[in-house]
Amino acid sequence: MLSEARNKTLTQVGAGTPMGDYLRRFWHPIAGAAEFDEKSVKAIRLMGEDLTLYKDLSGTYGLVDRHCPHRRADLSFGYVEDVGIRCNYHGWRMDETGACVEQPFEETYNPKGKLKDRCAITAYPVREVAGLLFAYMGPAPVPQLPIWEPFTWAHGFIEVITADVPCNWFQCQENSCDPVHFEWMHDNWSVRQNGELGPYAPKHFQVAFDEFEYGFTYRRRREGQEETDPMWTTGRVALWPNGFYLGGHFEWRVPVDDENTLSVAWFFTRLPIESEPIAPQKSFWWQAPIKDAHGQWIASHVMNQDIVAWVGQGRIADRSKENLGASDRGIAMIRNRFFEEIEAVASGAEAKGVIRDEQTAQCPKLPIATVELFRDGLPRRDYLASKWFGPRIHDFRWHAGQPEHVRDAFRRAVLGEEYEGLIEALKAADKARGD
Ligand code: FES
Ligand SMILES: [Fe+2]
Repeated sequence: MLSEARNKTLTQVGAGTPMGDYLRRFWHPIAGAAEFDEKSVKAIRLMGEDLTLYKDLSGTYGLVDRHCPHRRADLSFGYVEDVGIRCNYHGWRMDETGACVEQPFEETYNPKGKLKDRCAITAYPVREVAGLLFAYMGPAPVPQLPIWEPFTWAHGFIEVITADVPCNWFQCQENSCDPVHFEWMHDNWSVRQNGELGPYAPKHFQVAFDEFEYGFTYRRRREGQEETDPMWTTGRVALWPNGFYLGGHFEWRVPVDDENTLSVAWFFTRLPIESEPIAPQKSFWWQAPIKDAHGQWIASHVMNQDIVAWVGQGRIADRSKENLGASDRGIAMIRNRFFEEIEAVASGAEAKGVIRDEQTAQCPKLPIATVELFRDGLPRRDYLASKWFGPRIHDFRWHAGQPEHVRDAFRRAVLGEEYEGLIEALKAADKARGD
């Protein structure tokens, strides 16, 4: 249980708030690079700031103020040029540093004028890694962007999936250190949604939480799991400040403002050996729906179930009314660490997990359970028969709404061209299921 004041400290994200300042010390993923195959400009709100994200004709990304410095038109309606974005109202052009680099009429009328010099706008650095776009919104010097080890893996099918979640980011992140919910929210709720009363999934009987360089790990044992099980020897990772890492995928809960979160997930699905080589840079992006065509919350897929839990806690969970138990030790650890970090950053110290050394940032190691699933390929026959990969050919179980072109590309990547007939049969099965 937390006092209202302390809850506020944890959940406010605006510039100048203690948590807002702490969060700004890290790079945050904000979009999929493949999103910009379809468009070049996007309105985006991050940590309470209205911004414009664009990719100019030279391929440079910019993240700048939403409003033009001239008379405040919305730059997300602008159009990109070789360098920068041009406001659609009177043609002023801004580059990725926020400098105003062109004012067409002013330059014609008064070539020696200096108006441009005082028209710079807010701009934040953007970098692309493994199909993700990351932004840094904090003070200089800009820290290194960690190239986490999974970003360096080869021969995977990479999907970046975004979803708009209407609640505060921190209740989403608490879910990153909450092993027991898997049993109830994912396993058992899915049983009940299938109209069955059981059997329920194996019960948790042991959990452990530990801190390491880049966050926390949680480990779990459920009935039938030995001490040698990777979920107990390695476990999963809650990354500072707002990430969750589960072997084959990352999830980040990026604050949009105090009451909204951008969920950004990065999935790496290893492809069979026969499908190699796969260009590591190729990635897909899609926006996942959270409600169905009737306005009902989607609860059929893993992350949709999580989203239902987060939103159900309220726009900003009222932690003055909760009752924590032994399963919540990880959550208490995260909160305590954040209170300490907020104070440390406010007094000028470095936030834990921020990387300054270029070499270290190239491949910081994370605890990875069942790494062989992601690193080593399987022959196609074993792949399709395996419990882990086989079902993926039918459905993407993490998020509802995988677009047909992505599903098709995945099946083609796994099966190869000679399976054309099978791909058509799978498509027909999708249709029959209503996907
Ligand atoms: S408002 Fe943007 S150029 Fe005039
Ligand atoms: Fe979950």
